[in-house]
Amino acid sequence: MKRTKIKYALNATAPVEEIVIKGWVRSKRDSKGFSFLALNDGSCLGTIQVIVDHTPEIEAALARTGTGASVAVTGELVESPGKGQKWEVRGRTLEVLGEADQETFPLQKKRHSDEFLRSIAHLRPRTNKYGAMFRMRSELAQAVHKFFADKDFFYIHTPIITGSDCEGAGEMFRVTTLEQGSKAGPEEDFFGQPSALTVSGQLSAEMFALSLGDCYTFGPTFRAENSNTPRHVAEFWMIEPEMAFADLSDDMDLGEEMIKYLVSHMLDNCAEDVDLFANWVDKTLMSTLETILKDPFERLPYTEAINILKKTKKKFEYPVEWGIDLQTEHERFLCEEKFKKPVYVYDYPKTIKPFYMRLNDDDKTVAAMDCLVPRIGEIIGGSQREERMDVLTARMDETGLNREDYWWYLESRKFGTAPHAGFGMGFERMLMLVTGVSNIRDVMPFPRTPKSLDF
Ligand code: 4AD
Ligand code: MG
Repeated sequence: MKRTKIKYALNATAPVEEIVIKGWVRSKRDSKGFSFLALNDGSCLGTIQVIVDHTPEIEAALARTGTGASVAVTGELVESPGKGQKWEVRGRTLEVLGEADQETFPLQKKRHSDEFLRSIAHLRPRTNKYGAMFRMRSELAQAVHKFFADKDFFYIHTPIITGSDCEGAGEMFRVTTLEQGSKAGPEEDFFGQPSALTVSGQLSAEMFALSLGDCYTFGPTFRAENSNTPRHVAEFWMIEPEMAFADLSDDMDLGEEMIKYLVSHMLDNCAEDVDLFANWVDKTLMSTLETILKDPFERLPYTEAINILKKTKKKFEYPVEWGIDLQTEHERFLCEEKFKKPVYVYDYPKTIKPFYMRLNDDDKTVAAMDCLVPRIGEIIGGSQREERMDVLTARMDETGLNREDYWWYLESRKFGTAPHAGFGMGFERMLMLVTGVSNIRDVMPFPRTPKSLDF
């Protein structure tokens, strides 16, 4: 007989005479003549209560059953006379599929710290919190695709291995098949030239926006930045929409619509899991999410943001001057204390932004935008792209990029160039926003950070 997922058993509308449940034991409680098992199979947050009578076969199986073991139960789904659950299973047979040694199984019934659970990332999805997290991560990814599909954006798979540094920040992981210590030059390497893992699919996505109109990429990206913060990892997933015939304001509209859509999708489709985070992780989660849905995001030119930061009495670790890149403390002040909602800062100094951003008429700023959200800071970074060949090549020269390396990118400006704009949203940061979790390591199955490659 096929197993019934616990999610469906708990939502049954009528008793079921013959049911098979398979899952992991969360707890076992023995009484006179019978025992209770609470089983979870990951399909939902809840556990189903199983009651088994102490027949000789069942007693033998129970002796091998403890927290963490996996079992199969056949029995009858009946209305539960007890408090706290509508349905329970009267077990007829109990089969132990996999024992868990009670002396060494690390997940006991108490609450464990996030730090400890990070050290057992292979087992943490068996806990309530991380089960909820990874169900939500899956749902959020599906919601991203649904958002774009509903808006007629095409999903483009851009390469993971690349020869060009999109952000020009030199934070790329090299890809090579040469032996370590080899004296061979890049021309002898696999691709005959230096290659690396992509930091962003944007440059490729631009080619497709300038062909198909609206498109997006959603894939893994890699950054070899040696920063150990609660918001940075070496491998993360980025969502990058790119739109032809669009400017910076269209770009901000899309980002705002997308964040609101994703928040409301998660509230509608993952209510039980969201509740866990609102109750146990961040008491302000619901009000933060409600504000995001309700209010239009603030839109603030960089120069005004600097003026606000300079005027406030608040002391920052990094001094504020026109021309600086905003630090997380500045970003969080703007959205948490000053405006108390998401804030777009736009028109940044060109000196702190990559070559592809469109130069404004003042010759000092570019049509860039960052979306800042409470608790996290930057969640989206984007821009209108420089579509004018002469300005673009001048910016490449200025920033020390080799035109030949980008010959194909430049051809999009030579043949039928058009205004276009796009952005990158950090998928993990979006997940941090909807769960209230403050460390990016806790929204990823197996996070990759400097000096940490376990699992
Ligand atoms: O601001 P970034 O660097 O922008 C780009 O890469 C553009 N090419 C995107 C585009 O316009 N198509 O990164 C975009 C977003 C950030 O706002 C942040 O949310 C996330 O990606 N991000 C990271 N997330 C986790 N760990 C890191 N090391 C991240 N670096 C960026
Ligand atoms: Mg950025």
